[in-house]
Amino acid sequence: MLQIDCRDFICSAAALSTTLLRAVPGFVAAAFKPPTRMRVGVIGCGNVSASYLPHFTASPHVELVSACDIIPARAEALAKAFNIPHFYPQIDTMLAGAEFDLLVNLTNMQEHERLNRAALASGKHVWSEKPLANSFEAGQSLLALAEKHGLRIWRAPAMVASPAFAFMAESLASGKVGEIQVVADDNAMLLMDHGDGVISHVQSGFNYFNPHDHRAGEETRETISIIGSEGTMGLVGYDWDPRAVDLATLEAPSNHRRAIQPNGFCWQMGASPAAESLFTGRPLLITPEHAVHLLEVIETARQSQEGGRRIELQSRFQYPIGA
Ligand SMILES: NC(=O)c1ccc[n+]([C@@H]2O[C@H](COP(=O)([O-])OP(=O)(O)OC[C@H]3O[C@@H](n4cnc5c(N)ncnc54)[C@H](O)[C@@H]3O)[C@@H](O)[C@H]2O)c1
Repeated sequence: MLQIDCRDFICSAAALSTTLLRAVPGFVAAAFKPPTRMRVGVIGCGNVSASYLPHFTASPHVELVSACDIIPARAEALAKAFNIPHFYPQIDTMLAGAEFDLLVNLTNMQEHERLNRAALASGKHVWSEKPLANSFEAGQSLLALAEKHGLRIWRAPAMVASPAFAFMAESLASGKVGEIQVVADDNAMLLMDHGDGVISHVQSGFNYFNPHDHRAGEETRETISIIGSEGTMGLVGYDWDPRAVDLATLEAPSNHRRAIQPNGFCWQMGASPAAESLFTGRPLLITPEHAVHLLEVIETARQSQEGGRRIELQSRFQYPIGA
């Protein structure tokens, strides 16, 4: 069966009508109307379809032709709700049924690849929810299949088309945000595995622009985030001048601001408790073992980067520090 891209069809139709107009004096252009809408078939009539469909019905370029779901009642319900003339229980009957141009695949993730392939093979363009396929190799083969048939295939999400993403792209391209010229080894991103399923990443360096500079009291964002199975916790303010802690848990999901220190924490006060400890014999939370451990982290991070490998740290310190 000859398959033709709708846009190609529109272009060909326009060219044909122009030719006819030239060849046949008095030919009325209105006698031939090229299609103005893409015929769409939707497969997967679950949660997401309810959000997709109103956009289709509002679009002047979409004609909803068919709905399909392996739970037939869902396809039927969607068809009724959005005046879709045909509904099917399987992709095969859908592809063999009423003609359409674009398959919109809103099925479960593992089904995308198979259904996208079937649609391309039968000459349909495809918009697929993520992921496009179940592997890199399969994704490449779908692209190749689309190219072979002169078809288009796209994958959600669509956020790159949002004003926020467009603004970020424009700002980067205009140079507003700048680029950091690398002239020294002054920026590190550490990925650490602390055991028992606890992982962290730390980014550190001296080259980040911050509108507040050293005016720590103006920094109201969280600079340390801890995400656990039961809640999240964020340190408000700079790590070297902590102002408060935001805590949200499953039990109390709204953010509660705790340990508030409106005037910050004076990091220069550290040596005074040390003097007191020498006098009273009371141990400090600050330990030399921790300091040595940090030296090992710094040194080992470089070795890990140079060798491209994970390195087990040898040093230990008492943890948790504040308990
Ligand atoms: N739920 C969300 O918030 C959300 C957000 C963004 C993207 N997505 C993506 O959208 C897709 C659908 O999500 P959902 O939440 O609507 O799932 P859902 O389970 O509610 O709906 C999927 C539907 O697809 C049908 N289906 C499965 N295999 C099929 C097949 N072979 N042929 C025909 N129908 C089939 C199911 O019967 C079901 O009705 C997923 O890929 C998901 O990743 C979901």
